[in-house]
This record gives sequence, structure tokens and C-alpha cells, in this order.
Amino acid sequence: MERRWSPVFNPSNLLKAIWQWVDARLDLSPIVKHASEKQVPEHRHSSWYYWGGICLFLFVVQVLTGVLLMVYYRSGPDAYDSVREITYQIRFGWLIRSVHAWSANLMIFAVFVHMFSVFFMKAYRQPREFGWWSGLGLLGLCMVFGFSGYLLPMDELAFFATRVGLAIPETLPGMSGIISAVLRGGPEVASATLQRFFALHVVVLPALFAPLLGIHLWLVQKHGNALPPSEEAKPEAERKSVPFFPNFAMRDMAVWLIVLNVIAVLAALFPWQLDAAADPLKPAPPGIHPEWYFMSQFEALKLLGRVIPGTLGEFAGVGLFTLALLMWAAVPLFDTRTAPGQRGRNTTLFGLLVLIAVIALTVIGYIEVL
Ligand code: HEM
Repeated sequence: MERRWSPVFNPSNLLKAIWQWVDARLDLSPIVKHASEKQVPEHRHSSWYYWGGICLFLFVVQVLTGVLLMVYYRSGPDAYDSVREITYQIRFGWLIRSVHAWSANLMIFAVFVHMFSVFFMKAYRQPREFGWWSGLGLLGLCMVFGFSGYLLPMDELAFFATRVGLAIPETLPGMSGIISAVLRGGPEVASATLQRFFALHVVVLPALFAPLLGIHLWLVQKHGNALPPSEEAKPEAERKSVPFFPNFAMRDMAVWLIVLNVIAVLAALFPWQLDAAADPLKPAPPGIHPEWYFMSQFEALKLLGRVIPGTLGEFAGVGLFTLALLMWAAVPLFDTRTAPGQRGRNTTLFGLLVLIAVIALTVIGYIEVL
């Protein structure tokens, strides 16, 4: 007997049936309903909402290019040779390496912009304190990602910058032994250090980062986007918003496309360089300095060391820096308010001071080393 196509089997009905089958088992409808109802406030500061998404996009770029690099990277005595092969022999290896390195720097920059925009929009206030703290945790992990990744090519620059970087916390009482035993794996940066940094970079940090990012994003979904104080002061009828799907999500994707273009241009026009292989017997090249995101801390310690020379100065520097960091983390506890719209403490000046200090110390740091 001849079989006829019945409309029941058209593709959209099939998709619907599959969806109903999955939904009946996993109860996903509430999530879809939440997503379809999600709104994003629209006002003159709305563009700052893109920065969290930019961080997320850059993280995905890092994961994808990192996995590709791992196909050819060999940690161990021939780490440098493997990076040389990736850069000069493997097809498009130079591009993947360049994208990974540029995107890492852009990601840390984007995380800083996101943090300061969240700060100035007062988006850390109740009930978003955990968003602030989980974000600070992500920033800390991003910086350790950068520091540990920097050593992996084992070229001259990587070797000496890591040596300088590890020497800083070592000045603290009791830390020398810990840094040596846990991080460096000996008295000198060597293959034991590389093995530890590699494990940190590809296993430990991703294992910490992924759940923390999950918590951060869940908190954003739970609380929605915060309104800056200027918008909160307006009556509800005057506030505008757009649906997240499809309006804001499309804009997010347009921004990601721009970011991808920026990375492509940077990676193609300024391919990431590889120095000569590290040689511990050689003297450190002049002007060796940490990456730009550690420069302000490095310079603060240097300046303080000039005022209070010796170990005491370094100790005071690290102590002051820790205090500043704790104050920054504790901002949501000082700037409290019990209801939306109520005026909290004015922390804008404090934020501006921190921002100016970070930029000024970074610039002074570069002027001194270049
Ligand atoms: C890799 C690091 C990070 C990623 C991937 C990330 C991702 C995101 C995303 C996608 C959003 C929602 C969109 C937006 O409001 O921008 C968001 C919001 C938020 N983030 Fe982050 N973030 C990161 C780091 C940070 C840092 C360092 C802080 C602050 C210390 C922070 C604090 C917040 C807060 C408080 C919100 C809520 C903002 C609001 O309600 O408008 N995040 N984050």
C-alpha cells in the first residue's frame, strides 16, 4: 500500500514533539519562560551592560584557542621548541597563538572596565553583593591565568618576568618557603616551575573559574541588571527597557563581532613574538617588567621601597596593597541602603581615586622601565 506524508511529520511538528519529550523529563519550560520575559533597562548608561558579555565572549575565545594550542604544546624540557613549532611550522599555529595571547590581554582589560562600570553604576549594592564578590574572584583568577600562561613558552622574557613576579610575594615573612615549595618547585625558575604553572593554567584555574563563572551568571539572572542611581530616582512609568531576546542578545552579538574583528586585526598585524630560549645563566635583559595588569602593584611597591628601604618597605607595601584590596571588596558593606531608590553612601570619589591611582602607577611604571 502506498504511504502518504501526513502533515504531522513536518519538521516543525517533529521539533515540537522532541521539545515536549525533553521538557516532560527535564522541566525546562520555566527557564525558557524566564529567558523570554527577561528585560534589560535602557538608559544613557546602558552601553556599560555590554562589558560583562564581552568578558564572557573573550573567555570562550580563550578556551577554544587554548584547547587548540594544547594539541601541539609540550610542557617539559622541549616546551620552548614546541612553541617555536607552533609559531613557525604548524599551519596557522602563529594565528591561534596570537589570538590566545591578544584575547587574554583584552579579556583582563574588559574585566577591569566591567568592574569599574559596575562600581560607578553602584551595581554592587544590595542584593548584588555576591555578584561583586564572585566578580572579584573571577578577576583574581584571570590575573593568575595571565601570570601562569606567561611562563609557558619558556622564552627569555617569560623566564625573567616570572622570576621577578615570584620574588615579590617572597619578601613577605614566611612566604619564601611556600613560594619555593609550592609554586616554583625549587630555588630557581626551572622545568619544575613550568610543570606546576602548566597544571595551574590548564587544570586548576579552569576548574575554579568555571563554577565561579556559573555562580556569577546565575546571580545576574536572578537579580537582573541593576539600574544606575540616576535611573532609580525616576518614577517607574518613565523607565524604559528592551527584551533580552531577541533585542539585547542581537546587540550583544554585534558587539562580539566587533571584538572578534579587533582581535583578528591585532593578531594579524602584531603577531605575538617569541624571544630566544630562556637561559638562566645569562644576565636578565634590561627593563624586565611584569605584564601591564601587574604594573600598578609593582610600581607601588617600588615607590614605597624608596621611602622605606629594605624588607620593611616591601612588607609595608604588600600590607597596604592588601588593605586597599580588602576595602575595595568591602565596598558593598559600607555603601548599604535598605530600599531601592534610597541614597547610599557616596563612594564615587573613592572609586575615582582608585581608578586614577591604578592608571597613574601603570603609566609611571612604564616610563621608568622603558
Ligand atoms: C571573567 C570575568 C567576568 C565575566 C565573564 C562576567 C560576566 C558578567 C555578565 C555576562 C554580566 C551581565 C551583563 C552586565 O551587566 O554586564 C555581569 C554582571 C555583573 N558583574 Fe560580572 N563578569 C566578570 C567579572 C566581574 C568583576 C571583576 C566584577 C566586579 C568585581 C563583576 C561584577 C558584576 C556585577 C555586580 C554584575 C551585575 C551588574 C548589573 O546588575 O548590572 N563581574 N557579569
